[in-house]
Amino acid sequence: MPMIAVIPGDGTGPEVVREGLKVLKAVSRRFDIDFSFKDFDFGGERYLRSGKPLPEGAVDELKTFDAIYLGAIGHPDVKPGILETGILLKLRFGLDQYINLRPIKLYPNVETPLAGKGPGDIDFVVVRENTEGLYAGIGGFLKKGTPDEVAIQEMINTRKGVERCVRYAFEYTRKRNRGKKLTLCAKTNVLTYAHDLWMRTFTEVAEEYPDVETDYAHVDAITMWMVKNPERFDVIVTTNMFGDIITDLGAMIQGGMGVAAGGNINPEGVSMFEPIGGSAPKYAGQNIINPVAAIMAAQMMLEVLGEDRAASAVEQSVIGVIANLRSMSAGKMGCSTSEVGDMVAGGL
Ligand code: IPM
Ligand code: MN
Repeated sequence: MPMIAVIPGDGTGPEVVREGLKVLKAVSRRFDIDFSFKDFDFGGERYLRSGKPLPEGAVDELKTFDAIYLGAIGHPDVKPGILETGILLKLRFGLDQYINLRPIKLYPNVETPLAGKGPGDIDFVVVRENTEGLYAGIGGFLKKGTPDEVAIQEMINTRKGVERCVRYAFEYTRKRNRGKKLTLCAKTNVLTYAHDLWMRTFTEVAEEYPDVETDYAHVDAITMWMVKNPERFDVIVTTNMFGDIITDLGAMIQGGMGVAAGGNINPEGVSMFEPIGGSAPKYAGQNIINPVAAIMAAQMMLEVLGEDRAASAVEQSVIGVIANLRSMSAGKMGCSTSEVGDMVAGGL
């Protein structure tokens, strides 16, 4: 019986998570999978009440679950950085979720801003390193607040961290079995130490995967190719910061934040699934936000839990529902948040 920890979070998080849970409950009836759910109230409201982003022991408690389903973290009354580092990054790091898996897939009937590109052209996956790089949080200030101020924020790349990410990406590319091509996205022409390590690791691990074609592109060029020739990509492996940036671009070409889902994966531990769009406070409480990203996050969770039949049924149902939506944007779908959830659940 898979035990799922549910963190609805802030803003529109609770609304979209409700629809994801609706779909999971329908999956449970249809495929006879007995989920149990436990809610956690982590987020901005709790922080404002308690002064702490996460309660004592939260990470350890979450380790006892099979997966975590997260809505969104981010509150307009909390200074930027507190909830992001205190909740989201704390969980990613604390649970050693060293992969952030972000599929960029354009479904039929979804509008992309890329002229002349269709579903067959935009179908790749970004494997983002998720525990190191510029996100490691090492650094500090010297002479803060003076004209001589120095701010240092270091980029951490360990052989172990890079290798486990690159290896995961090769395995994933092989299993995905689409173009069997893995592109390393880095900046070897400037980051001549850190990304030399990435390149050497990539080249060495590649020898164990002769069936996978390898490719390299600098991060600035990647943003160009993603717009000009997205069909060039099958799987992209990249660093934490670059992965953050290119997956927002990816979300836009796949139809927007309403569709983009991601998984924070610890292949040996507990993984956490989330729509990547954030808490969108201006849409909160109106039943107009698109829950497809959250539903697809639940779909990714099913895949990682090994429930492949259920996962592909959810994807098929989502494709069917999307075909009838007027738009992927909040307030323009032609129906409400809860109606989308009803239709996806019903489509199973
Ligand atoms: C994301 C978000 C986070 C990140 C923020 C909220 C810390 O932008 O999941 O992409 O930078 O990883
Ligand atoms: Mn981001």
